[in-house]
Formats: sequence, C-alpha cells, structure tokens
Amino acid sequence: MKALVFTKYGSPEILQLREIDKPTPKENEVLVKIHATAVNDYDWSMIRGKPYLYRLLFGLLKPKHQIPGMELSGIIEALGTNVESFKVGDAVYGDISTYGFGGFAEYVCINEKALVIKPDKMSFEEATAIPHASALALQGLVDTGDIKKGQKVLINGAGGGMGTFGLQIAKLYDAEVTGVDTGDKLKMMTEIGFDHIIDYKKEDFTKNGQIYDLILDAKTTRSTFDYLRALSSKGKYVTVGGYLNRLFPMFLLKPWISIFSKKRIHIVALKPNKDLNYISELFEAGKIRPVIDGPFNLTEVPEALQYFGEGRHQGKVVIVNNTP
Ligand SMILES: NC(=O)c1ccc[n+]([C@@H]2O[C@H](COP(=O)([O-])OP(=O)(O)OC[C@H]3O[C@@H](n4cnc5c(N)ncnc54)[C@H](OP(=O)(O)O)[C@@H]3O)[C@@H](O)[C@H]2O)c1
Repeated sequence: MKALVFTKYGSPEILQLREIDKPTPKENEVLVKIHATAVNDYDWSMIRGKPYLYRLLFGLLKPKHQIPGMELSGIIEALGTNVESFKVGDAVYGDISTYGFGGFAEYVCINEKALVIKPDKMSFEEATAIPHASALALQGLVDTGDIKKGQKVLINGAGGGMGTFGLQIAKLYDAEVTGVDTGDKLKMMTEIGFDHIIDYKKEDFTKNGQIYDLILDAKTTRSTFDYLRALSSKGKYVTVGGYLNRLFPMFLLKPWISIFSKKRIHIVALKPNKDLNYISELFEAGKIRPVIDGPFNLTEVPEALQYFGEGRHQGKVVIVNNTP
C-alpha cells in the first residue's frame, strides 16, 4: 500500500510517498481502506517536532509514529478476531489519535473503539472533516461552557475547524455569535452565519468594550486578564488550545480567579469521539455541516500541511486518497 512516511523531524516536504506492507488487524482492530483524511494541528506539530514539548509525546529524538494523520473515513476491509461493533463493508469515520496515527495512507489498522458508523448521507470528505473539530466545539461550548439559550458567545480563531463547528453548535442554542479571525476567512464566516465578525489584525476584541457570556478560544492569543475583561459578570472563558506561554499562567491563575470572581476560566482536555453519534444525528438532521478546504490528493499532503500551518485554510483541510 502507499503511505506518507517520515523518519525524522523536519518541514512537511520530509514526508515521502512510499510503498509499504499492508497491515493485518490485531484482535481488537479493523483494517480500514481510507477514502479521506484531514490535516490537524497534531500533524503539523508532529512532523516538525515543534513545539519541542510535543516530543515528549511524539518521540524525543525521532518520531514514534512514522505515518501522520489522525482523522479518517473509509470502509472496513477486515476484522480482528475480537471485533464486535462492525462487519466487513461498513463505512466508518473517527478520530484515531487515542489509538495511534496513520491516516495519511491507503490503509490503517486501528482499534474498533476509534470509529463509528458513517451515515449514508455523509460523504467521505464530509465525514473526515467532522470528528476532531466538532468534538472540540461541542465539549468546549456544551460540556464545559454549559451554553445557555440566547447567550452572547464569542469564538476566537473562528475561521478554522473548531470555530466553524462552534458557530453551528452555538446556533442550536440561539446564541448571538461573534467570530474573530482574519483574511479570506472573514467572508466565509459571514456566509455561514456569524452575527458579528472581528478581524484580529484590526481590532482587539478584549479592548473594544463589548462583553460576552461565553468565549470559546482555539488559540489563546491574549492574556488571562484580557479575557476576564471581555466576560460578563458570570461569564465563562473556555479554551481548547493555543500558545503555552498563555496557557501555563492561565492554568496557575484559574483557581484564584474562581475565589475572587464569579467569572470562570476553563481549559478543555479533549475526549476524542465522545458524542460522535450525536454529531452524526445533527448532520443527518441538517443542523451541522463541515466547511471543507480542498480536497487535496494524498500526493499533495506536504503542500496541504504547509497551507494549514500558515493559517491560510478555511474550516477543515481534507485529503482524498486517489493514488493510482
Ligand atoms: N484541548 C485538547 O485536548 C486539544 C486536542 C487537540 C488539539 N487541540 C487544539 O485545538 C485547536 C484546534 O483548533 P482548530 O482545529 O480550529 O485550528 P485551526 O483550524 O488552525 O483554526 C484556528 C484559527 O485561528 C486563527 N488565528 C490565528 N491567530 C489568531 C489570533 N491572534 N486571533 C484570532 N484567531 C487567530 C487561525 O487563522 P490564521 O492562522 O490565518 O491567523 C485559524 O483560522 C488547536 O489550537 C489545537 O492545538 C486541543
């Protein structure tokens, strides 16, 4: 089978399209023929080995996982002896990062728990764009943020994967949603229904006098005190990721903030694939749709990664497997 392999850290061009053995599933694994995959922050960080802290996860001197790719959709071709949830021929999708990586390939063997059935109405391209970013948005806004009907919500980093799902989930609660991002993404954000748009290169939303009941952040680009200023008296700030120099002080300050104020600060630790069947139901009911950038071919992954890393993408960067 063909796979994009890297054996040392470097820029995305370090990935090589190689012919390698097709894997055989272990007891609890399924063999999936991958139809589509997507680019995520983990892939961008894993290939470069940066930020360096990530090397504790991905391998100190060289990468532990040699094929990146953590989201996929495809068809099950073979089953391990103990697999109970699927049969050969099932169309599936999921975030596989808990059990390994390997989405940038024609096939992968992965624990059955990493996957759910793909609804017929959902294309493979749509399916692969959904699991990671929709889970971040749902867990950020609902599980952690406890969003309430009609709240004023702001999403920082709103034009990427998490933010575009965040808007659609917040709208299920009739929220008034402001999106913060920049460049070409602003037009797309208006089209998909953000009520207000802020270009972060032109305006600092923490200094314009507006306040929000709930802030969901993909990037953590401001200081904890800046965010507190932009919250209503019982407002919540929820971040799913971003710069360590911002996250670390936030982590230290948040217990003190909850003693001296009714405002709350939360840092989400993602539970991959939690509520993915609920997301499938929302999709089938026409209530959420991924914003897809691409699709690119498997051979174009290095370019797609660079494009993602430079923040030029809109929504989710999708890769389709159509190698000859
Ligand atoms: N919590 C967890 O357990 C967990 C697990 C996995 C991943 N994550 C994190 O979750 C986040 C996923 O977000 P995503 O998939 O939506 O990422 P994404 O697709 O890269 O979107 C982030 C958006 O933020 C924008 N942005 C950059 N700088 C900004 C600024 N100063 N102000 C406002 N927006 C800015 C980017 O645009 P430009 O670059 O063009 O400016 C981009 O459009 C990542 O930070 C990832 O590391 C968290």
